[in-house]
Amino acid sequence: MALHPHEFMSKMVDRVCLTDADRNMLSSNATWGLQIAPEMADFFYAYMGRDAEMNAILHATEGRIHRLHETFIKWFHEMFVGIDNWGNNYADCRWHIGLIHVRIGIGPQHVVPAMATVIREVGNRCKQDQKSEELREALSKICMIDLAFIEQAYIEVSSNAVLQETGWTEGLFRRLITTGANAL
Ligand code: HEM
Repeated sequence: MALHPHEFMSKMVDRVCLTDADRNMLSSNATWGLQIAPEMADFFYAYMGRDAEMNAILHATEGRIHRLHETFIKWFHEMFVGIDNWGNNYADCRWHIGLIHVRIGIGPQHVVPAMATVIREVGNRCKQDQKSEELREALSKICMIDLAFIEQAYIEVSSNAVLQETGWTEGLFRRLITTGANAL
């Protein structure tokens, strides 16, 4: 059940249809991406701050929100530059981000709407700056890949924890999930 970030990345690239044209569109707008990143970070953390549960997580430790603004800017810019042309290093970095969120206990209910906020705000900014529809679409695709990493990390870590703790086989675990889902 262990996830291989590199294979997962290429699967996601295929599944969201991230093309060379999308990659060119992103990298040719990397300077713009970096320029708007602080404003996107402001939108992002203001949105989360309006939710009591997420706000508590953001302020749980000293200096966390400040650090988060900086890491968001870096993350946002990396979507445009692709780190290594959206290759293995990109995959490792996104997997690591996923694991960090699992450790903190941030699940799909937090991450999905948060990513929707990024997509909405960057779409608004694209319109405002008269950027092409192709750029907006390329950004949505790369956000979906990043989201898939965070979501998949949640599943992988919880499944592995159960398997290790119980000694169950993967087959048994899957059967229990199916039975559990049927019972709901
Ligand atoms: C679109 C979804 C999200 C993205 C792209 C994102 C991005 C990131 C990045 C890049 C990091 C830094 C990882 C590192 O240190 O290498 C991080 C850490 C973190 N994120 Fe998120 N995040 C998302 C959603 C959320 C949500 C919904 C929460 C919940 C409130 C959250 C809370 C945190 C916390 C608490 C940390 C660790 C901060 C620290 O103490 O260093 N994130 N996130």
